[in-house]
Amino acid sequence: MQPLPSNWETWDADRLEAEVRGHNARYWDDAAPTISDYDYDRLVERLKAVNPNAAVLQAMGPSDATRAGNAVTHQNPMLSLDKAYDEDALLKWADKFEGLLVMTPKIDGVACSIRYDATGHLVVAATRGNGITGEDITANVMRIANVPTQIEAGQALEVRGEVYLPMARFRELEGQFANPRNTAAGALKQKDPDKSAQVGLRFFLYDVYGVEFDTEIHKFEWAAAHGFSPVEHELVRRDQVQEGYERYVARRADLDFEIDGVVFKADDLDEQRRLGATAHHPRYAIAYKLQGDSAPTILEDVEWSVSRNGVLTPVGIVAPVKLSGAVVTRISLANWGLVKAKGLSLGAEVVAMRRGGVIPYLEAVVKPGDREIHPPSNCPACDSPAEVDGDFVRCTSGGDCGAQRIGVLSHFAKALEIEGFGEIWLTTLVSAGVLHDPVDFFALKAERLTQFDRMGETLANKLVAEVEKVKAGVPLATFLKALGVPGLGKTASGTLAAHYRTLEAVRAATPEQVVALPKFGELLAAQVLEGLAAKADLIDRLLAVGVVVQPDETPADAGPTDGPLNGQSFLFTATLAAMKRGDAQDRVKALGGEAAAGVSKKLTYLVVGAEGKAGSKLTKAEKMGVKVLQEDEFIALLEAAEAEA
Ligand code: IVH
Repeated sequence: MQPLPSNWETWDADRLEAEVRGHNARYWDDAAPTISDYDYDRLVERLKAVNPNAAVLQAMGPSDATRAGNAVTHQNPMLSLDKAYDEDALLKWADKFEGLLVMTPKIDGVACSIRYDATGHLVVAATRGNGITGEDITANVMRIANVPTQIEAGQALEVRGEVYLPMARFRELEGQFANPRNTAAGALKQKDPDKSAQVGLRFFLYDVYGVEFDTEIHKFEWAAAHGFSPVEHELVRRDQVQEGYERYVARRADLDFEIDGVVFKADDLDEQRRLGATAHHPRYAIAYKLQGDSAPTILEDVEWSVSRNGVLTPVGIVAPVKLSGAVVTRISLANWGLVKAKGLSLGAEVVAMRRGGVIPYLEAVVKPGDREIHPPSNCPACDSPAEVDGDFVRCTSGGDCGAQRIGVLSHFAKALEIEGFGEIWLTTLVSAGVLHDPVDFFALKAERLTQFDRMGETLANKLVAEVEKVKAGVPLATFLKALGVPGLGKTASGTLAAHYRTLEAVRAATPEQVVALPKFGELLAAQVLEGLAAKADLIDRLLAVGVVVQPDETPADAGPTDGPLNGQSFLFTATLAAMKRGDAQDRVKALGGEAAAGVSKKLTYLVVGAEGKAGSKLTKAEKMGVKVLQEDEFIALLEAAEAEA
């Protein structure tokens, strides 16, 4: 980049206009600007001041007056990588070419293209965007410490790689950002390059265009000699790929960058040219995905578990598979709607996924199976007829079902922190008719409990004492949550308690008032109030046995209680297969999250429904580097957050 001459402020309108035209052409036509965005903006501003009617300004239009954030067309499309989940698939791929393989870690950052002109100046940097056009992030990339802004003069060329946030830096910034990848994406889109530079991004190079090489290894050597930091790399034979991959798995926690797989490429560039690419990915490269997160398996059976609200939830029984170090045999299939939407059948080859401690779930169906899945005709717990209601299958017992009872009691005990009532004891006590509903906890007598096997006097007394202790004072928010009203989780209970203070006031609340509370929408407000009304008898009986509900004393300005999705925003596109969009928004809000109105840089997630077309929101979100969640990933995240709430 060249500085503006010292006398530029003396230029007249004609000269300014000619300069802007020249820079436009170098930027747009040659993709080789010679001045910085900042200086370009200064020229445009000056021209606007001396001749606001200059033809070049009219032609540019207001939105083009500044180049930051503008689209950059890639000289070669930026493709994706094909994926392999096991050694067999990887070796099958490697069978298609001759010679060695290059192994590199797949960095979980933001793909970036950087162009240099023939004088060696860094001229444009862009995000991947939709692969054809990306977003101009030149000013920020110029501030990444290990990206040279000037290299040896020679020919115009392009380097590609991953911008990432080193883990050590992420830990220093702990608490400010959700994860290193989002932090990097956000910092790259920063309007102020100083602020972007403060984040401490780095760049790993994995490709070079415009220079002749014969092997990948020579490419990396060239890159290092020209001041770049190539991604770490190693030549491997076919019998070493699995061992190489496992070494990365073992090192994962100690690396200073996050990885989500290991990339293998044919080392020989002649072989690469011979193999070519599809519209989506090059055939000479593949990502061996970390099985810590996802792995292929076979869906062997579907079991239906009964939730405390009487919904029969399908659970996939899969051939044992290792995810994040644990052997998994059961995966969440969310609901009947998802089973239908995915066209799932028994014997299907599926990909199971587990992220950040979330309950494992179905990520994708790779190959259909050979046996149809039917919704159950009866509740597996109480044998009452089961009924398909849209995407859900429900037990029609109206609550008179052992499994539902145990679910309700377990939820109540957990919410009130009544210790000692695990699923096994609850099952015993429900089967014996000792416990029916939560009120029965408060009528338990040690003499009755000691009649059960393995229940000694000490344990029985302890359980009764636990119940008595809890009865003496339950905070309002805890009491509300314990009722098990759909939608009334930790966040919504906290909001109601902080606003209304007493149980009587909550019970007298109207839908109009509740809608106005933070994090409540119309659907959630109606759901919660109807749910509370349905529990009126239970509430009265709990009070009658002497449960003391303590008024809320949160200071008035404390705001709503935090939920697990606090600080996260969700926007929906396409049609959700498993639930209505309004319900999804309500569930997000009930967990402290926000339902966003449009795509913006602040958006945490764009959720793509499994049905219909995603359209412009998706394009925009991808352009802005917003994390995109497929519907099943969203459901898994939601369920994990609900379990936490
Ligand atoms: S090779 C077709 N090597 O993974 C692109 N890519 O899913 C081939 N990535 O957007 C690139 N680490 O930004 C390659 N060591 C690595 C990589 C890597 C991360 C990203 C890349 C691309 C995505 C493909």
